[in-house]
Amino acid sequence: MKTVVVKCGGSVLKELSQSFFDSMNALIADGYKIVFVHGGGPEINAMLEKMNVKSEFKNGLRVTSEEVLQAAELVLSGSMNRKLVRMLESQGIPAIGVQSSDQGILQADFINQKELGFVGDVTAVNKEVLQLFLEAGLLPVLTPIAKGPDGTVLNVNADHAAGAAAYALQADHLLMVTDVPGVLKDGELIPSLTASETNELIDSGVISGGMIPKVHTALKALESCGHVHIVSGKKPFYENETWHGTLFQKEETV
Ligand SMILES: Nc1ncnc2c1ncn2[C@@H]1O[C@H](COP(=O)(O)OP(=O)(O)OP(=O)(O)O)[C@@H](O)[C@H]1O
Ligand SMILES: [Mg+2]
Repeated sequence: MKTVVVKCGGSVLKELSQSFFDSMNALIADGYKIVFVHGGGPEINAMLEKMNVKSEFKNGLRVTSEEVLQAAELVLSGSMNRKLVRMLESQGIPAIGVQSSDQGILQADFINQKELGFVGDVTAVNKEVLQLFLEAGLLPVLTPIAKGPDGTVLNVNADHAAGAAAYALQADHLLMVTDVPGVLKDGELIPSLTASETNELIDSGVISGGMIPKVHTALKALESCGHVHIVSGKKPFYENETWHGTLFQKEETV
């Protein structure tokens, strides 16, 4: 079974193009099983603004108080997940919404409760449940809210959640779909990156904000995934068995 984990950024959800869905259908036609994970950054920001709650980011991760957690879960589970499932269904894709904290589909532990609050890193994945969906021909759409310790739920950066799902499923591809064509430098797309090149771009400040958890996830995923890409949701990402965007590659061993 060829598997792809697709992470769709909240950043691009409203702007997903027809060609994005055509690429999704092309993958399905080529025999790929797809697990979808979504974010919800801009909508969570809008909700927090309405609630008059300040939100702060550290290294691209949202500092999450109990209040922020409640707002994030409301937006992710109640709005973003619903919208995405309906969009996929309207394109003939058999999507099914999944709350990742149920049945410990995603299990997480605090990263640093003092600094980040209710933010988790995935420690385990109930891949058996995900495989049941895939075997039934369904495309699970996961929220990035995980089961935490002692009855808590934790906010997980959706890039990290997707990386963990890809690792657990030993996925062939990890695709992170966002609002830019890939990793950019001076406005130009960088077609491929190794770990050392990526780290240089972080050090020099070219890669910042929400791109940081994305490239960290990409580099970590290289350990288990053959193919890791950051692509735009505004354009086709897969045509005639060719992938677009920034491809992450292992260092050349000389
Ligand atoms: N070198 C870079 N190349 C491209 N984008 C970059 C770079 N450095 C920082 N970014 C920022 O990263 C953003 C993408 O990450 P962001 O977290 O905002 O979106 P997302 O992960 O797709 O959505 P969500 O966080 O809602 O899931 C881009 O819109 C851009 O502003
Ligand atoms: Mg992000």
